[in-house]
Amino acid sequence: MATTLISGGTVVSATGRAAADVLVDGETIRAVLEPGAALLGTDVAASVDRVIDATGRYVIPGGIDAHTHMQLPFGGTEASDTFETGTRAAAWGGTTSIIDFAVQTYGHRIEDGLAAWHEKAAGNCAIDYGFHQIVGDVNEASLATLRRLPDEGITSFKMFMAYPGVFYSDDAQILKAMQVSRDTGMLTMMHAENGPAIDVLAAQLVEQGKTDPFYHGVARAWEMEEEATHRAIMLAKLTGAPLYIVHVSAKQAVEQLAWARDKGQNVYGETCPQYLYLSLEEQLGASSEQWGHFEGAKWVCSTPLRSREEGHQQSMWQALRTNDLQMVSTDHCPFCMKDQKELGLSDFRRIPNGIGSIEHRMDLMYQGVVTGEITLERWVELTSTTPARMFGLYGTKGVIQPGADADIVVYDPNGHTSIGLDKTHHMNMDYSAWEGYEIDGHVDTVLSRGKVIVDGDQYLGAKGDGRFLKRGLSQYLI
Ligand code: URP
Ligand code: ZN
Ligand code: ZN
Ligand code: ZN
Repeated sequence: MATTLISGGTVVSATGRAAADVLVDGETIRAVLEPGAALLGTDVAASVDRVIDATGRYVIPGGIDAHTHMQLPFGGTEASDTFETGTRAAAWGGTTSIIDFAVQTYGHRIEDGLAAWHEKAAGNCAIDYGFHQIVGDVNEASLATLRRLPDEGITSFKMFMAYPGVFYSDDAQILKAMQVSRDTGMLTMMHAENGPAIDVLAAQLVEQGKTDPFYHGVARAWEMEEEATHRAIMLAKLTGAPLYIVHVSAKQAVEQLAWARDKGQNVYGETCPQYLYLSLEEQLGASSEQWGHFEGAKWVCSTPLRSREEGHQQSMWQALRTNDLQMVSTDHCPFCMKDQKELGLSDFRRIPNGIGSIEHRMDLMYQGVVTGEITLERWVELTSTTPARMFGLYGTKGVIQPGADADIVVYDPNGHTSIGLDKTHHMNMDYSAWEGYEIDGHVDTVLSRGKVIVDGDQYLGAKGDGRFLKRGLSQYLI
């Protein structure tokens, strides 16, 4: 494979930035050099096949989206991005690895769920991919299987305190799985919302004729997220399990995380772009000529978008600065309005839950740099370096250093990206949750293990470029 020199750019890491050239040899990074050094050293210069001019641009480790749901069967339908379309959209947006969720459903074996996910993904991905395991049926057999998963490169599992009858686990089941987490070092990931209580509130709202998407956000009150987050923290404390709360959206849930972390507990959390930018009032409460009040269905996800008046969005940004939240993933789980979200036209409970954002995470988070919410280095840390460390990929992924995979993005801070269905949109959806967003920045070039897969407005990758990532244990725990 070819040797590539990325020259003239500013290499940004989680800890600093410096003018440097990056020499890529085959699939890996060979050297990070003084600007111009490779071209002066005659033997290296002679062997460089391709030079990418990164003058005026940032050179960053490829994004790692640690929370995606390609082809997830959910809400009576299936998430509309396949591993092929979803990972290609990811690549367009500067993400070079995903960690998706293999699903064990109630009454089925973990082994079979995992095998099904391998089959969906193998040979179809544009970028490298790993799996977390969703545990939807805790029993003696599934607990025994869980213990063996680290040997297969799966070092984290997700449980749900929400969705009774679908993925839900009760406290006794969570406790047992957390004991496995403690024994093996696997990270317990938690969907922290009090599902049984939410379902009662949702049913009562529907009985009152409150069936619009807005009431999805009313039923899933922040108290239900705070309570579940606290309960998960206490169960983790009791068992000694390391805990990672997914898709945090309520400021009160962040307060719980901060409280536990201040006591030294191994508790972490992610938020998602939708909880930083979007709100209950503006999106879930939206109406349009085409859809009326059903417009809000475009943004039905769980945890839900929160009230801007209550200040949740600002507190998410703040938590990203103070490290009470450590990462930003998308929870990419797209559904089309036609035939999918439409299932809930007369009852918000039947709207499949999820938003598609995988293509825009790097850009949306870079906006946080532009507006002064986070630093340039924190951008890299939140979107690449910490995901790599949290989920056992660091060294190979998440950093530009000799020996690491050459997953590299050349990002143009003077470029511009207009988001919209008829503009930059490669996700398999019939709407964009980010329609009209204007980004001061642009993904120019994307390398995945040394191969240029995005070059300006050209896609040069292919399905099957991406390989399964056998992950190690978390490198982030205290
Ligand atoms: O609304 C969401 N988040 N859909 C995906 C499933 C989950 O809970 O992560
Ligand atoms: Zn969830
Ligand atoms: Zn999810
Ligand atoms: Zn550009």
